[in-house]
Amino acid sequence: MNKPHPNVAFDFSPLHDMKFGTDVPEMGTGPVSTEAVTSPEYFEKEKDKIFKRTWLEVGRVEEVEGIGDYLTRELKVLGTNIMVVRGKDGALRAFHNMCPHRGMALATDACGSAKGFACEFHGWAFGLDGVLNYVPAEESFTDLDKSKLGLRPLACDTWNGFIFVHWEAEPELGLKESLGGMGEQVDGFPFDRCKHIAHYSATVKANWKVCIDAFQEAYHATYLHRHAIPGASDMGIALPTSVRFYGPHRSVSAWLKMDIQPTAAEAIAYKHGPVGFAKVSDEEFGGANPDNDESWWFDINVFFPNFFCDIGRGWYFTYNFWPNAVNETVWNMNIYQLDAATAGERIVQEFTRIVLRDTVYEDMSTMESSQKAFDSGVIKEQVLGDLEIAVRHGYEVVEAWMNKP
Ligand code: FES
Ligand SMILES: [Fe+2]
Repeated sequence: MNKPHPNVAFDFSPLHDMKFGTDVPEMGTGPVSTEAVTSPEYFEKEKDKIFKRTWLEVGRVEEVEGIGDYLTRELKVLGTNIMVVRGKDGALRAFHNMCPHRGMALATDACGSAKGFACEFHGWAFGLDGVLNYVPAEESFTDLDKSKLGLRPLACDTWNGFIFVHWEAEPELGLKESLGGMGEQVDGFPFDRCKHIAHYSATVKANWKVCIDAFQEAYHATYLHRHAIPGASDMGIALPTSVRFYGPHRSVSAWLKMDIQPTAAEAIAYKHGPVGFAKVSDEEFGGANPDNDESWWFDINVFFPNFFCDIGRGWYFTYNFWPNAVNETVWNMNIYQLDAATAGERIVQEFTRIVLRDTVYEDMSTMESSQKAFDSGVIKEQVLGDLEIAVRHGYEVVEAWMNKP
């Protein structure tokens, strides 16, 4: 029997009926070594064994809608800068952002629109399809084969408007296959009806998995988020209710007990929904609440290795975690919502944006602190409970990929 918590009113004991919507892989129950988040050698190996072998989400199709639109991304974990470009044929292609002559970067902006790419160094010119079209003083080169000197490609594909790239130009598994059941669960959500409303970003002195872990369990929400999410401490807000595993990916539904007494200001925002990350719509959405949980609040969908697409009633937000080093990660968050039809809904949206900002501040306050403790060598293992099963699964999957031939 649980003793009452000294600081919060919520009784955790009913939580042991967490449901599983899929088979649960064998993961053991013991502590997990911190080597995976502190060892520079482990991190070096992750680059080859994980990041060069998986589809990585880099943006949305709305960012590169027109012919010639491009975006660039600095992917230190792959040791490269990449560009995604929409060609004259409407297709999206990804290239390493480097001139095949002597390596100069071709696009220097984070995004833009171009008719083609002319290198600033010696003027080699490339089409939107990466083909080398023109070399100044071409006759000065011996046996120059322009057809072999196009931009170096990465594989590029989209799923529900999300753009993914793969280090290998021809990966063994296509994007859809590699997303598997995780992609299928979320298919049907109206991503194309949602608008981008906010972007937050930070460079965090913590391992990419430590950062991910702070967002893939809901055990912390009742306590850590008692300031940002009104009522969290006495509602048992956001505890996990159902969990699903799809190969390397995983999905956790969070639960919301609704007996809250909002303040006057909150009451205005909550007119259209109960609490922070407000319900924007009454509509039932495909791709959401896969196990039909009562008091469902939102789904935490973790796409291996470093992308989240969390969805609720009329909104979704994404996280990308880009490792710079064993103990440094660039974290990006983008928030999207259905368009507001009324002024009231607009208030709810704004409220959501701000509550989310404050909530993630709280999440971020933990990461560098945890990393420091693990780096000190004093804490050598992480002790994980059932409510942190997604964290445990994360380490299991990483270890399995590290041992793949
Ligand atoms: S490096 Fe690009 S043209 Fe020489
Ligand atoms: Fe959190």
